[in-house]
Amino acid sequence: MSKLANIDWGNLGFSYMKTDFRYVSTWKDGKWDEGELVTDNKLSISVASTALHYGQQCFEGLKAYRTKNGDIQLFRPYENAKRINLGAQRLLMPEIPEEKFVNAVLQVVRANETYVPPYGTGATLYIRPLLIGVGDNIGVGPAPEYLFSIFCIPVGPYFKGGMAPVNFTVSDFDRAAPYGTGAAKVGGNYAASLYSYHLAKKNGFGDCIYLDPLTHTKIEEVGSANFFGITLDNEFVTPKSPSILPSITKYSLLYLAKENLGLKATERDVLIDNLKEFKEAGACGTAAVITPIGGIEYKGKLHVFHSETEVGPNTTKLYNTLCGIQFGDLEAPAGWIVKV
Ligand code: PLP
Ligand code: COI
Repeated sequence: MSKLANIDWGNLGFSYMKTDFRYVSTWKDGKWDEGELVTDNKLSISVASTALHYGQQCFEGLKAYRTKNGDIQLFRPYENAKRINLGAQRLLMPEIPEEKFVNAVLQVVRANETYVPPYGTGATLYIRPLLIGVGDNIGVGPAPEYLFSIFCIPVGPYFKGGMAPVNFTVSDFDRAAPYGTGAAKVGGNYAASLYSYHLAKKNGFGDCIYLDPLTHTKIEEVGSANFFGITLDNEFVTPKSPSILPSITKYSLLYLAKENLGLKATERDVLIDNLKEFKEAGACGTAAVITPIGGIEYKGKLHVFHSETEVGPNTTKLYNTLCGIQFGDLEAPAGWIVKV
């Protein structure tokens, strides 16, 4: 193991810091170049780039984990490669070959190895790939050129306290439209969520829950993570909707709830008026990992699930199973782990 950067690993939050290398590759004249590692964290692009005006961009989020023996591993990076290409298709951007994507992630992690937090601190290396339309363009149309870049940062918990209950409030606004771009990881969805996030934070909540944009009766997801609940009769339930992000963590938990915990696991509608069907609830995602939901505020009333201070038993088991696999302490289903 190489020498580690001088960082207070146990007290990291989720904030940007410059690390040593990032990857960048350019798409021009119909093809991607080889790509390279660079040391600067600035882009120089045309002021007329579509990413700046028309939101032609998408991104990803995945993590590298340090195992007990000092090795480094990625969790399901091919799923991120597939998902960035769904975003690329939706916004008329060139796809990135999956091997190119995963290879670039590996290059970035290896080059920044000193920033991969030590095992046991709970911290991880968050990897942020982005694909943006660049070049001279002003009419509403796809860009002539594209940049694919990846940077990484060491991170701790996304929500304060990590594996501690957080309260959420239900937003009156939508992050996505019924047939819009909700299922793609495009910046526009996040721009649309900033105001509701601001209101939620101002009122003391961790983030907000969005309802389905058509009827406002069903839970969609959190602004930065998917939602799950454990019903009174021990079923793992997570919303099914074409306008939420197909979370890799969510699909992993659906599998683990069934195969490892022996729970029934279902994707289906979750009615905001029927929160009493759940004894536990949580938010799940790469950044959020599993964040227990203490309560959800809706129409001025806070519905508390298991507790506002303690984590429920099923949520704890799911967390231990997921993190056990990610940090290499438990055996992973075939293909889930890629060694760095
Ligand atoms: N939903 C939204 C809106 C997100 O930003 C994220 C984070 O990536 C997720 C869900 C969780 O997705 P994943 O588990 O693939 O990180
Ligand atoms: C992630 O979990 O990777 C996310 O993208 C969530 C948030 C930081 C936007």
